[in-house]
Amino acid sequence: MTIGIIGAMDIELEYFQEAMTGFEKKKEGYHTFYVGSWKNEKVVMAKSGVGKVNAAMTAQKMIDLFQVENLIFTGVAGATNPELEVGDVVVSTSCQHHDLDASVLGFDRGTIPMYEGTSDFPGDSLLVELAYQAATTIQLNGMKVLKGKVVSGDQFIADKKHVEWLHKHFQADCVEMEGAAVAHVAHFHNVPFVIIRSISDKANGEATESFQTFMSKAAETSSKIVEQMIHKI
Ligand code: ADE
Repeated sequence: MTIGIIGAMDIELEYFQEAMTGFEKKKEGYHTFYVGSWKNEKVVMAKSGVGKVNAAMTAQKMIDLFQVENLIFTGVAGATNPELEVGDVVVSTSCQHHDLDASVLGFDRGTIPMYEGTSDFPGDSLLVELAYQAATTIQLNGMKVLKGKVVSGDQFIADKKHVEWLHKHFQADCVEMEGAAVAHVAHFHNVPFVIIRSISDKANGEATESFQTFMSKAAETSSKIVEQMIHKI
């Protein structure tokens, strides 16, 4: 079984650097895939780049070219659940595109038009549980760990009103820019997935500074959760 691990930015994969140096490097278009064995598991790791199209491409390539049977996305997010603080963790029970808007045609915001299936892609229950257990086991600095909803869009959110709307409309717990794209691809191919996000900011007026200050620590937290869960898959 091969496990795909994706992060959007270098900083989100930095924790794995040492392991990755021993991996085989395969360049496929813009993306580079690192194939090897980590913690006795066959893994493929890649930096997707920021945004939903980059994330979707990476997930699709992992499935088509490397036959991954599980997909894990690790990284940072803005909190939309007011109970969450910087350093807390969200493990995806589901993911939805928040910027998909065909409401003038009568579709609810975030709903894929002319598609019969769900637009709120469910995370795999086993992967979610393993990530949740791993996060509660490592328990860094009394962080809160929540199984919850991740929403994604090609926007960095730094506005209190927008955050409140995301929470109200989608019951979103955190917002980022890739998870729903990975979830969308994985769901369409019946590949189990989980998105693990550590909170770097609260997506409000202070989000930019908070993101810059805390993204490194938050990215490391999320990576440690992956490390803790991987051998149990
Ligand atoms: N990733 C981390 N913080 C974010 C935010 N506020 N908006 C979108 N993506 C994020």
